[in-house]
Amino acid sequence: MNFGCDYYPEHWPEARWRMDAQLMKQAGMNVVRLAEFSWSRLEPCDGQFDFSWLDRAIEVLVSEGISIVLGTPSATPPAWLIEKHPEILPVSADGTIMGFGGRLHTCHSQPVYRNYTREIVMAMAQHYALHPQVIGWQTDNELGTTLGDLCYCTSCREKFHLWLKHKYGSIHALNQEWGTIFWSQTYDKWEQVPIPTPVPAIHNPSLLLDWKRFQSDLEVEFQQLQIDILRLFAPNQWITHNMMGLHAKLNYFDLGRNLDFVSWDNYPMGFWLNQGADPYNVAMAHDLMRGIKNKPFWVMEQQAGPAGWETLGNTPRPGQLRLWTYQAAAHGADAIVYFRWRSCRFGAEQYWHGILPHSGNPGRRYEEIRTTGEELQGVMHLLEGSMPNAEVGIVYSYDQLWAFQIQPHHPDLTYQGQLAIYYKAMYDMNIPVDMLELNGDREWFAYKIIVAPLLFLMTEGVADKIKSYVQSGGTALITMRSGVKNWNNIVSDLEPPGCLAELLGIKILDYDCLLGNTQGIQWVVPNHGEKQNYEVKKWCDVITAITAKTEAVYTKDYYAGKPAVTVNQYGRGKAWYVATEPEQDFIRVMMQIIVLQSKILPIVTTPEGVESARRVTQEGKIYIFLMNHTKEQKQLVIPKEWKPIVGERPQDDRLTLPGFGVSIMAVLTKN
Ligand code: GLA
Ligand code: ZN
Repeated sequence: MNFGCDYYPEHWPEARWRMDAQLMKQAGMNVVRLAEFSWSRLEPCDGQFDFSWLDRAIEVLVSEGISIVLGTPSATPPAWLIEKHPEILPVSADGTIMGFGGRLHTCHSQPVYRNYTREIVMAMAQHYALHPQVIGWQTDNELGTTLGDLCYCTSCREKFHLWLKHKYGSIHALNQEWGTIFWSQTYDKWEQVPIPTPVPAIHNPSLLLDWKRFQSDLEVEFQQLQIDILRLFAPNQWITHNMMGLHAKLNYFDLGRNLDFVSWDNYPMGFWLNQGADPYNVAMAHDLMRGIKNKPFWVMEQQAGPAGWETLGNTPRPGQLRLWTYQAAAHGADAIVYFRWRSCRFGAEQYWHGILPHSGNPGRRYEEIRTTGEELQGVMHLLEGSMPNAEVGIVYSYDQLWAFQIQPHHPDLTYQGQLAIYYKAMYDMNIPVDMLELNGDREWFAYKIIVAPLLFLMTEGVADKIKSYVQSGGTALITMRSGVKNWNNIVSDLEPPGCLAELLGIKILDYDCLLGNTQGIQWVVPNHGEKQNYEVKKWCDVITAITAKTEAVYTKDYYAGKPAVTVNQYGRGKAWYVATEPEQDFIRVMMQIIVLQSKILPIVTTPEGVESARRVTQEGKIYIFLMNHTKEQKQLVIPKEWKPIVGERPQDDRLTLPGFGVSIMAVLTKN
């Protein structure tokens, strides 16, 4: 089991390193990540590398049985490099040249910067390739973290033109595909195509979408140049990158493609939300991170204390660090690395607390993490490589997400927000979910249900994929504003849902944005026959059912009585269409019925606030996690075949979880 922390030996006197390593060892730690921000120490001046200090730090750590992950330092180029090449500073949308003084102060398209990056990565790779305790690499750090868009410099503009040329071939084709005749934007040559800097009116949505894709590709390419070097010089060490869960600037499916596995940085309490993130949201982020490569992942930065820069979030309550560690493991983390070892006395992150306080004296958080590691020691190796064996998939598409960022329709409509209500319904029902790439190669036939919200952009290929899935017996759930546009953000001349019409058995001939007005739906609950009313929000597609059966109708205004939710038999399967954003209660009841029809069994029934998750090994051994996210004690009934292995133990079939309490059970099989 890999259990450890992010450590910055360069922040502390060398005389302290031994004690740190010993304390880590006593906490059961066996891995640290180092060096991802230490460029100025690794290359103190141009072309002169100094690994001596890092070698010594590694030696101390290794002598206490700790393995090393090295971060490449390309997120923090040193002052001498910026001084020598100020042209690599990034430019913001309004033309401001961003300065040195924080981090991320570089443009990733600039050839000069790429060369310096190649050189430091090569020097590190050559130096550490054969080190037996350097087990792997992290490229850069949280690519795409910048607050605004990445960079609007001349180099990026030229690179964007090249990207467009590669995509469209000729400027004529681009004009066609973007519809540049609108507002007389027709371009004669590539150089005329703008990047989306401020304009008096608004930019072409096709340009905006390609700009987002371009930026993502740019980061993927910037990472790839590092991967190429690492593969060449350090072929026996693995490569990962620390992603950011639901952060949406980069297409993580693309960023993860050539990595050995995904890592991510998990701060459930954060400092941007009063009470921290909802547990289901953190679960969704874990599931997305597992979904990127459809395999277990590492948490490379796991929150270890109160977090913040100028302002802080709540201090994690006793038991919460342990709980979040279990939650990560429950959703597929094969390694937990806490950020950071010791709270730093200086710099921008003085208040982003580590395991140790500023004083360096182990306290409450150290003790909690130590006992957590001790508990998990016996079980994590059993879980390695195991997956939830989910029967429900939720499609996740960065292209759709970006298209809705550009045109949210209703000011409160977000792609992730709508996806989250379906995720939450499954989470509350204790049904594991996999997050799926929309245009990936992976087949979906193993899933009984596929939920694919807001499929705004559509291609024949995507439609065929969904159709053949349903045809062969799957249940698909599609939501409003699907099949509206082509992949270049141009509205289709087919009535929505475009090439999904036959699958869904409907047409959308009218729609209504609920800006300031309200709407409701009425549902005749199957099996019960009673009529239930629910509120709906943000948007209403008004459905004309062709072959589909109506499940719920609108209750207000001129389209009262018209279908709002339909289901269509297609081949051996069913395709649902939810034409609006219903309140959570409706989603819950509807999903319960779909789940029942698909014969999917929940892991267990839990009281509010208690999460369950499952990991199934290749050999078919099943482990169940139960996690109480509330401060209050909770009780649940568990099956007889569940045998406790870590955490709270049941009394007969009754499990009592104290506030923030956790338990892992092994499911006994007959043989
Ligand atoms: C991110 C970064 C870290 C650190 C933490 C806390 O996850 O990767 O370097 O900045 O946030 O802010
Ligand atoms: Zn640039």
